[in-house]
Amino acid sequence: MCGIMGYVGENAASKIILEGLSKQEYRGYDSAGIALRCPDGIESAKIVGRVSELVRRVEEMPSECASAASGIGHTRWATHGGVTETNAHPHESVDGMVVLVHNGIIENSRDIRSTLESQGVKFSTETDTEAACQLLAVLYKKCDGDALAALSKLTAYLTGAFALVIMIRDRPDEIWCVRKGSPLVTAFDGDACYCASDPTALLGYTHDLFFLEEGEMAALASSGIKFYGFDGKERGKSSIHLNWDSVMADKGHFEHFMRKEIDEQPDVLRLTIDTHTIVTNVAMDKSLTLPKGLMKRVRRVQFVACGTSFYATLVAKDIMESLGSDLDISAEVASEYRYRNVNGGEDTLAIFVSQSGETADTLAAARIAKSMGTHCIAITNVRGSTIDREVDHTLLSMAGPEIGVAATKTFMGQISLLTLLAMSLLKDRGVLSANDEARLIGGLRSLPVSQNAMLEREGEIRALAEKYSDSKGFFFIGRRECVPLTMEGALKLKEIAYLPSEAYAAGEMKHGPIAMLDERLTVVALVPDTDLREKTLSNVEECRARNAPILLLASDGDESARTYADDVIFVPRTEPELFPFIAVIPLQLFAYHTARTLGCDIDMPRNLAKSVTVE
Ligand code: AGP
Repeated sequence: MCGIMGYVGENAASKIILEGLSKQEYRGYDSAGIALRCPDGIESAKIVGRVSELVRRVEEMPSECASAASGIGHTRWATHGGVTETNAHPHESVDGMVVLVHNGIIENSRDIRSTLESQGVKFSTETDTEAACQLLAVLYKKCDGDALAALSKLTAYLTGAFALVIMIRDRPDEIWCVRKGSPLVTAFDGDACYCASDPTALLGYTHDLFFLEEGEMAALASSGIKFYGFDGKERGKSSIHLNWDSVMADKGHFEHFMRKEIDEQPDVLRLTIDTHTIVTNVAMDKSLTLPKGLMKRVRRVQFVACGTSFYATLVAKDIMESLGSDLDISAEVASEYRYRNVNGGEDTLAIFVSQSGETADTLAAARIAKSMGTHCIAITNVRGSTIDREVDHTLLSMAGPEIGVAATKTFMGQISLLTLLAMSLLKDRGVLSANDEARLIGGLRSLPVSQNAMLEREGEIRALAEKYSDSKGFFFIGRRECVPLTMEGALKLKEIAYLPSEAYAAGEMKHGPIAMLDERLTVVALVPDTDLREKTLSNVEECRARNAPILLLASDGDESARTYADDVIFVPRTEPELFPFIAVIPLQLFAYHTARTLGCDIDMPRNLAKSVTVE
């Protein structure tokens, strides 16, 4: 939540910062601001709204500011303090010495504020961030202008999560970065230094990035970067090469990132399969070397994640069960796992799934699991992210940068990697049959063609989205392998079209929710041609009898499904466990076209941020 960009070099900082902010706008977009090192001091501009509005505001600044060679910027997702220009970052200390931007939550900001106010410091915003800003100014003075000493003291005072990027009035050649709990990445391209919340903002300058660790600080100058611990001691640091292409983060000819990312799913799947399989065999061991005998030892597998990533783990859980796993498997949202008295230890393997690798709840859950001696694997899309650095093993999903706030292609990256991981773990355990291995790998290999066939049916799905866009709400129902999909389909509609949508195991409808049904509440039923087809169709009939319009997803060729529904979307056939890999596409397209029909902001839905770095 919140995007930060900083630059110190010889080029026009304003342009670089504004570009960096617009690349990170999906992290938060209720207000934005910039501070530039102008000839007469540090000048700020802030707006309520989008970065495009900030661009206009910067054009009104004196021309010497537009050509300033260093500065910092911020795009905000409000936590403390309303969405106002005053509360937008950067914040400036009352003496004008410190100007900073922040991502995270400073939990003891009230205490700091009341202490400083009692000493006569005047606060001008409602934010938690201002406490850090005013306190740093006081400490800087106390430390006689020693920035490193002041920052060490500041980090000892602050509790909570904070990525801070700081300019100090009388230190014109530097920008300081501080990281605890919220991500921050830095880079030096030989002529200038950069920092950002998200690596995608830096890929146009260099692919060799320095990710700040927990408890680390950095001093950026045009000549290079120095790294320090919170104790003020300098430390060495190696860069990580990120081989993402910067054009991957462009919209291309698509109207929205989300639509482009939906289209990229067959490639994501193909890449994952090519990397982790040999002919009809899983070959995860190339990238995952678990301690010898671990899989024989474990009794328990725990999947932990949030949001769409959590639904991906439900797909994996279902696949493991269908393959005859003898393990005790659970899947849990990280925000609950972290506060429950969960089992753990040497006989437990925990698999944390996070696109960003920065979700606060998932990180906290992973830390708890580690502290119990549980073996921890992460699946993330971002090399160098916090989760990547903290767990025992990481598997990188191969989705490339995802910009749309609604996760699409990263879900595909996750379920494909999770499926292969699940098979590999069961194989190590001697539970996976050769027949199932060949069947599923064969099925996975043929999926990209079927996914492309599904994408070609977009016209039909768009027409249905337009037809049903005036529904007062939706129920997504299905059984077994379809249950995670009902959740994902409902979440996509909620987050980008703001429509009430519920996900229910089809058999549960009659235990309460069916009371809600009438002719204005649409039921989207997922009914592949499996052993559960008839049972699910009975549940569909029950909904139909209550006058609910029925939109059915059925397997290609299942013509009789038409008699149960007002409309049918046909989905190419595949192995039963792999149905989610294809059926998620029409659900994503349905949500996309519904949101488009309703005129919603698809890539940046209201109230959301791509990466949820606060609890
Ligand atoms: C999905 O469309 C959402 N953007 C959200 O549910 C997301 O999946 C969740 O916040 C988890 O994020 P992560 O994968 O980066 O941890």
